[in-house]
Amino acid sequence: MNKPLDLSHLAARAEEDSNTSDNAHFAAVLDARLSRRGLLRGSVGTAASALFGSVALAACGGGDDTPATPTTPDTGALSKLGFTAVPKSMADQVTLAAGYTATVVYALGDPLTASTPAYKNDGTDTDFGNRAGDHHDGMEWFGLGSDGSASTAANDRGLLAMNHEATTDETLSSFFLHANGGTKTLPRPTTEVDKETAIHGVSVVEVKKTGNTWAYVQNSAFNRRVTALTEVDISGPAKGHALLKTKYSIDGTRTRGTLNNCGTGKTPWGSFLTGEENWFGYFTRPLGDNLARANDKSVTALNRYGRAEGAASRHGWESAGTADLYARWINARTGTSTDGTDDYRNEMNGMGYIVEMDPYKATSRLVKRTGLGRFAHESAAFSLPKAGEKLAVYMGDDARNEYIYKFVSDTAWSAADANPSDRLATGAKYLDNGKLHVAKFAADGTGQWIELNKAAIPATYTAYAFADEADIRVNCRLAADAVGATKMDRPEWCATHPTTGEVYFTLTNNSNRRVAPTAGSATQLAPDSANPRAYSDLKGTTAQQGNPNGHILRVKETAGSGAALTFTWDVYLFGAQSDADTGLVNLSSLTADQDFSSPDGLVFSQSTGICWIQTDDGAYTDVTNCMMLAGLPGQVGDGAKKTLAHSATLSVDTFLGKAPTADTLKRFLVGPKDCEITGLTETPDGKTLFINIQHPGEGTKMADIADPTKYTSQWPSSAGYGAGKRPRSATLVITQNDGGRIGT
Ligand code: FEO
Ligand code: CA
Ligand code: CA
Repeated sequence: MNKPLDLSHLAARAEEDSNTSDNAHFAAVLDARLSRRGLLRGSVGTAASALFGSVALAACGGGDDTPATPTTPDTGALSKLGFTAVPKSMADQVTLAAGYTATVVYALGDPLTASTPAYKNDGTDTDFGNRAGDHHDGMEWFGLGSDGSASTAANDRGLLAMNHEATTDETLSSFFLHANGGTKTLPRPTTEVDKETAIHGVSVVEVKKTGNTWAYVQNSAFNRRVTALTEVDISGPAKGHALLKTKYSIDGTRTRGTLNNCGTGKTPWGSFLTGEENWFGYFTRPLGDNLARANDKSVTALNRYGRAEGAASRHGWESAGTADLYARWINARTGTSTDGTDDYRNEMNGMGYIVEMDPYKATSRLVKRTGLGRFAHESAAFSLPKAGEKLAVYMGDDARNEYIYKFVSDTAWSAADANPSDRLATGAKYLDNGKLHVAKFAADGTGQWIELNKAAIPATYTAYAFADEADIRVNCRLAADAVGATKMDRPEWCATHPTTGEVYFTLTNNSNRRVAPTAGSATQLAPDSANPRAYSDLKGTTAQQGNPNGHILRVKETAGSGAALTFTWDVYLFGAQSDADTGLVNLSSLTADQDFSSPDGLVFSQSTGICWIQTDDGAYTDVTNCMMLAGLPGQVGDGAKKTLAHSATLSVDTFLGKAPTADTLKRFLVGPKDCEITGLTETPDGKTLFINIQHPGEGTKMADIADPTKYTSQWPSSAGYGAGKRPRSATLVITQNDGGRIGT
C-alpha cells in the first residue's frame, strides 16, 4: 500500500489533532512537537545549575533519610502537606521527598506465570503474553483478603490492574524489545509484530507486603494479560450496530483487543475501567479508500478520528503477513459486501471506548461500554455515589481542541450494588443505558452540559448525517462539533474531589492556542475563558506559541448533582515556570517548589484528600524531568476573576482558584530521564502509594541500541532492579519511612 513520508509514529503519540475541517498534516504535528519544547524565558540554565547542587540532598529511594515528624493527626483529610518539597531535577533517578522510600515492584517484561523465564532485557525475550506489558500507565488497586476474596479494607495484599499504553519506538520499531533494534522498513517480521501487539493492553498483577517489603507475586492465579488481540465484547447502544460489523464479528458484538490504554477508573461496584486513547495510529488507510467507499459518510468519520486516506500505521503491524490478525489493521473497504462483513472497513469503530474488566476474575471477558462515547479516552471519574441518584461519569478526549464529556446513567445508584457478585452485570446496569453530554464553557464562569442525541443536532449541521443514537455515541466528536461544544487544551485525566464532589480536569497543553490565529487556519484557536492562555504575543517567537504548560480546570455541578445540566467552573492551577510573567503565564504564582508543566495524571487520595498531579511534559524538560506534586485544593469560586490582556484588542477574563501556598502545593517526586509520571493508586489506609514511571530513556536513538552508555536512561537497572541496561517502564511502591500516610 501507499505509505507516504513515515512520520506516523509522531502523529500516533498524544498529539492527535483532527478537529479541523482539514485532516491533520505532518507539518502541524512537527510544529506541535517543536512548540512543546519551546522555552518561555531565557534564564533557565542558571536556575537549573543552582538547583543541581541540592539534588543529591533530596536523595534517591529513601535509604538513610531521617523519618519525618508528622505535623498533623494521621487521620482524615489534610489541611497542610507534611513533607519538604523536592527540587526540580534532571538526574536519571527517582528523586523523592525526604523520609520516603520508593521501590520498583513491577517492570516491563516481568514474568506473570511460574513457568515464564526471568526477563533478560536484551531483546531476546519472548512470550510477552505472559509478561508485564510496556508503558505502564493508569492503574487501580483491588484489595484481597487473606482468603483471596475481594476486600475493600486490605492494605497488604491486592491486585494492581494496569494499563500498558504503548511502547518506545522509532521508525516503526519498538526497538528496546528487539535484539538489534528491529526492522525499520516494511514489511515488519511477524516475530517482532507479535511481541509488539502483546506488550500493549492491560495487566492484572498480585502484589503483596511481607514484613515491610512489597513484591509482586509471579505465580498468582489472579495474574492476567489482555493484549491488542484478546477477544472483547461490545456492549451498550452500539452493540450489534452496522458500524461495528466486521469480517471477524459479522454481528457487530465482538472485537479483538484494547489498545493504547491510558487513564483508568474504578467503578462504585468495584470493577476496573480502562480508556482507549490513541488507537487510530495503529491502523492504515490506503490511498484510494475514499473512492472505494464512494466517499460516503464513513470518510467524514474516519477523517474526524485521525485516519485520513493515506494514513500510515505507527508500527506497520498490517505488514507482518496475510493472516487475519495482521490484515485487521488495514482500515479499508476491500470487499464487495454492502455491510462490511467481508473486510475491515469498520474495524476502527471497535476501538476508542471505556472498557470494563472484573480484575478478580482472570478469565472474565472485557466489555467495551459504547454508551460512554468513542474518542481518545483518558480516565473515567465518577460523581460521588448517592443512593437514589443517577451516576455521572466524567471523561476527557485527549487531542488538541477536543472536548470534555459526561455520561449520566439512566439507573439511580443503589448502595446494595457496592459489592456485587457479578460486577460486569452491574456494569451493564449503570453503563449501558444513559445520556452522553458534552461541556460548553461560558465566559461568565458558568457552563452547560449539552446532551448528544439526534434532537440536539441542528438542522444546519450537514457535515455528517447521524443514522441513530448509536451512531452519535460512535461518532460523538462529530455530534459535539454539531452542538458547538468548547474546544479545550487537550483534556487528559479527570478526578473527583472526595469530599466536595467537584471534578478536576487536566488540560495538558495546546500548541495551537494563538492570540492571533493564522487567517483561514482550522486548528488555531484564540484563547477563551476556560482556555485563556496563549503566549505568542508575549515573546513574539514561534517557539513560544500556544499554551505549552497547561492548566487544571474544575467544575462544580449545580446543586451538587451529577445529573445537572449546568455548572460553575474555575481554574485550580495554571502550569508555569516560577519566574514567568504573572500577568499572562504564571497566573497561579507558582514558586520554585511548585512549578510544573503539562499536567496529565490526576488522582485524589481517598485517605488524605491530596490531589496528586503528574506531568507528561516537553516544555520544561531543559530544567527538570517529569514530576509529581501534591496539592490541597479549595473549591470552585475560592479565588477571583482575572483579566488577561493579550493584546491591544484582545483581553480574556478567566476565573482563577485561590493561589496555592507553601503548605498546599509541593513537588513530591521527580522521575528519571525522558519519562512521564502516570497512574496512581493507594491502599485504603493511605500508607502505600503505587505510581508508574513510563518510558524512561525514550529519547534514546535506535542506532545506539548496542551501546548502553548512549541510552538516555538506564532506569530501573540503575536503581538495582532487574537484568540488562535497557530502560523499562515500571511501577514504584512508595512508603513513608515512619509508616505514616503518604504526604502527611
Ligand atoms: Fe496517554 Fe493523553 O496521555
Ligand atoms: Ca495521559
Ligand atoms: Ca500522556
